[in-house]
Amino acid sequence: MTNWIDFYDFKHSVIYVNARHRDVHYRTIAQDIRTYVPSPAARVLDYGCGEATSADVVAEAAAALVLVEAAPNVRAALGARYAAHPKIAVINADEAATLPPASFDLIVMHSVAQYLSAAELERLLAMFRRLVKPGGLLILGDVVPPHWAAPAAALALLRFGVANGFFWAAVGGLLRIFVSDYLRLKKTVGLSHYSEAAALEKLTAAGFAAERAPRNIGHNPWRMTFLARPV
Ligand SMILES: C[S@@+](CC[C@H](N)C(=O)[O-])C[C@H]1O[C@@H](n2cnc3c(N)ncnc32)[C@H](O)[C@@H]1O
Repeated sequence: MTNWIDFYDFKHSVIYVNARHRDVHYRTIAQDIRTYVPSPAARVLDYGCGEATSADVVAEAAAALVLVEAAPNVRAALGARYAAHPKIAVINADEAATLPPASFDLIVMHSVAQYLSAAELERLLAMFRRLVKPGGLLILGDVVPPHWAAPAAALALLRFGVANGFFWAAVGGLLRIFVSDYLRLKKTVGLSHYSEAAALEKLTAAGFAAERAPRNIGHNPWRMTFLARPV
């Protein structure tokens, strides 16, 4: 395993401590994203959607939802899960890059920026700037700040476990992460962290007017969500 896409392409990613955690995680994100869908006519793009087991919650509030996932096994599972869904399409990163300009009212990239180099993030922001409609919205979610990220992530997971009935599985999951490829990849490939100012600067440079949302999407209140509109 040499990169983060391989890490997430695992059949049972160690990131989710059990099936309940995975499902509550994706339901929480989907419910949060849904609040940003501007109208039932909206076209939505979720880039780096992961297993997206509650994508139908977002699709219900929109006209179309395009899921983009780079990890091939995860993408195949998404394709099977949503094959019969009339509003959901599943595509790969190359296909996303060839979509026509101004295709989406809402673009979401949640909990992906930390796995991208600065150059990769810039390339994706330029693509989102091209794909978002005038007056549309880009949500850059779960951006990891430079300090105390690991303890904050552990604490957020334990609290999420308490609230959703998987506390002991969360404790076990944290121990498992210590012996997984996560820490090795963190050392060799690295994770990208951004202060609020640095994230806003990236979005501004990519042609967006951006602000930090009052709260992060998902379960970790120490990470940041940014709302960016094309200028
Ligand atoms: C933590 S998961 C996020 C999944 C989902 N958006 C969520 O919030 O739960 C990270 C995602 O980033 C994707 N990813 C990692 N490196 C990437 C890269 N270089 N290009 C595109 N996607 C990448 C993985 O395939 C994975 O789906």
